[in-house]
Amino acid sequence: MSDYILGIESSCDDTSIALVDTEYRVIAMKTVSQTSVHSLFGGIIPEIAARNHIAWIFPLLRSLLDEAKISLSDLSAIAVTTHPGLVGSLLVGVGAAKGISAATGIPLVGINHLEAHIASASLNRKSRPQLPFLSLIISGGHTSLIEVKKEGIYTLGATMDDAAGEAFDKVAKMAKLGYPGGPVIDKLAQKGDASRYKMPKLLTSEKYKHSFVFSFSGLKTATQRFLKNDDIDMPSLMAAFQKSLFELVERRIIYALKHNKYKALVVVGGVSANSELRERMERVSHRFDTALFLPELQYCQDNGAMTAAAAIPAFQTKQFADFTLDAAPTKREIYG
Ligand SMILES: Nc1ncnc2c1ncn2[C@@H]1O[C@H](COP(=O)(O)OP(=O)(O)OP(=O)(O)O)[C@@H](O)[C@H]1O
Ligand SMILES: [Mg+2]
Repeated sequence: MSDYILGIESSCDDTSIALVDTEYRVIAMKTVSQTSVHSLFGGIIPEIAARNHIAWIFPLLRSLLDEAKISLSDLSAIAVTTHPGLVGSLLVGVGAAKGISAATGIPLVGINHLEAHIASASLNRKSRPQLPFLSLIISGGHTSLIEVKKEGIYTLGATMDDAAGEAFDKVAKMAKLGYPGGPVIDKLAQKGDASRYKMPKLLTSEKYKHSFVFSFSGLKTATQRFLKNDDIDMPSLMAAFQKSLFELVERRIIYALKHNKYKALVVVGGVSANSELRERMERVSHRFDTALFLPELQYCQDNGAMTAAAAIPAFQTKQFADFTLDAAPTKREIYG
């Protein structure tokens, strides 16, 4: 019989539980998104997020096991996100995982949310990225370019201000397009003409030209200035915003691929669902003849399947956590 790993993700505002086998196949997944609740406030309210996780986590588990026709005793391990994230939200997942483990004796694995995003690109794929590989984590809380090598994981560069997803959300809020901003802007931009608005070329000064850092606050301000005009061509403005943001991302990736030999390019996180970014990454990986790993669209945003997948190596080497497992609220860059 296969080994099934239960993944529990509650680091932010999605409650998600999934079953994944050790071949990285997703057997079942159940997610409740709180987007419609938090969109009333234009952003995430941590206490409401934590309360909703409590309301949903066990009903989701029941419905997942029923659908997969699997009982708790069939599980081989329980993986749960422990950091980084909103501490109240994380604690709900960690508490649930420890409770199930205490009642059943099934071993626990604590998961770093960013490692889980990286693992999302392996879900339902036959192969894994070979080391060394380059990874871009581009999400609501992070924009980091990292190297994953045999010797360890190193951050080449990260954002100095907003994360890319945060920039999408803030621009959408200023333009009154709703929350979250990424999917709306992505759709609008497809109908626009980016050349109608002149946006800044980001971080081209001598100081930053050859670095791996990101910054999107100047782009946000430039977009805000155009939004003050009366007759805005919104699809074109959003296309211009998005183009400028992804031009910087692509430039950084090209620079990294030019100067190092990587066996794969792994692009993950909520923003990796973006159609323009996906097209750009396809072109770049083709140009450098590098294997590209992008998650399937349903695994770009936070989900329990990637949490379970990230636990597979620890499960195979029997590196389990004990009951001191705890949540950590860190928003820090965890690598390097
Ligand atoms: N098609 C898209 N284009 C651009 N951005 C998108 C798209 N779809 C979702 N996003 C953005 O992805 C972000 C959410 O991603 P994710 O769930 O990975 O972030 P998070 O969990 O809040 O942050 P982190 O993983 O860094 O802790 C939001 O900012 C959202 O606007
Ligand atoms: Mg995330």
